[in-house]
Amino acid sequence: MIDTSCPIGVFDSGVGGLSVLRALRAELPQEQFVYVADSGHAPYGERNDEHVIARTHAIALHLLERHRIKALVVACNTATAAAIRLLRDTHPGLPIIGIEPALKPAAQTSKTGVIGVMATRGTLNSEKFRALLQSLHGKATFVLQPCDGLANAIECDDAIKIEALCAYYTGAMGQFGLNSGQMDTLVLGCTHYPFATPQLRAHVGPDIPFLEGGVPVARQTRRLLAEIHGLFTEPALAHGPRDPMLMLCTTGDPGALRMALERWLDLRVEVSQVAIP
Ligand code: DGL
Repeated sequence: MIDTSCPIGVFDSGVGGLSVLRALRAELPQEQFVYVADSGHAPYGERNDEHVIARTHAIALHLLERHRIKALVVACNTATAAAIRLLRDTHPGLPIIGIEPALKPAAQTSKTGVIGVMATRGTLNSEKFRALLQSLHGKATFVLQPCDGLANAIECDDAIKIEALCAYYTGAMGQFGLNSGQMDTLVLGCTHYPFATPQLRAHVGPDIPFLEGGVPVARQTRRLLAEIHGLFTEPALAHGPRDPMLMLCTTGDPGALRMALERWLDLRVEVSQVAIP
């Protein structure tokens, strides 16, 4: 029987998963969340699968043992692609929700049928992504852009690098616009990239929708927990007072996570540093 008063675990290689946490908190305001930013071992997107799989397992175990999480949201496209199947095999009783680049919704809404996809090299090279692409064969043309360095620049809050990489990658992808043959939709296939929205917008123009996975993931988390009667209900409080609604941990610099929370989620909260070997 699931203890509905337990928190939901959320993790990413760093600050990017905050874009998913924002959507989760909006969708599930009664729930507690524990967020782990694995900034001490980031970026994931240019590392090999072994590294990403090992980190994913270590963080899941930490969240289960230390925080008794009732569900886990993998708020990282790269970790989802590399490790979610193995994670589900290892923890069959734990609801695990992953994130993938929003190719399906993009194919449904694009008018020109040409869609830009920015993601990490790890995501684009994964089998999971190849299968997703294959499932949409003939439905749209996808222009795939691995964005080496962009997640890390966002992680380090390096404004000059973010601007330069956004200019370079959007330029390399080709023409954005609403005319035939142009990309009329941009999929942000890495949870860090929504935090570069103003810089990307400056290069692709005002008419191009940006599709990211935060809101669909939050809805899926609600659906999954509802199905197994795992959503928090008031009577669960009979077990005693709850911990704070939000706990934030990082394996890197707490100052960086604190700043990102303040800037992007307008939250001023304590951040603790944890070692997750
Ligand atoms: N935020 C991660 C993702 O969604 C990866 C960033 C990285 O560590 O490379 O793919």
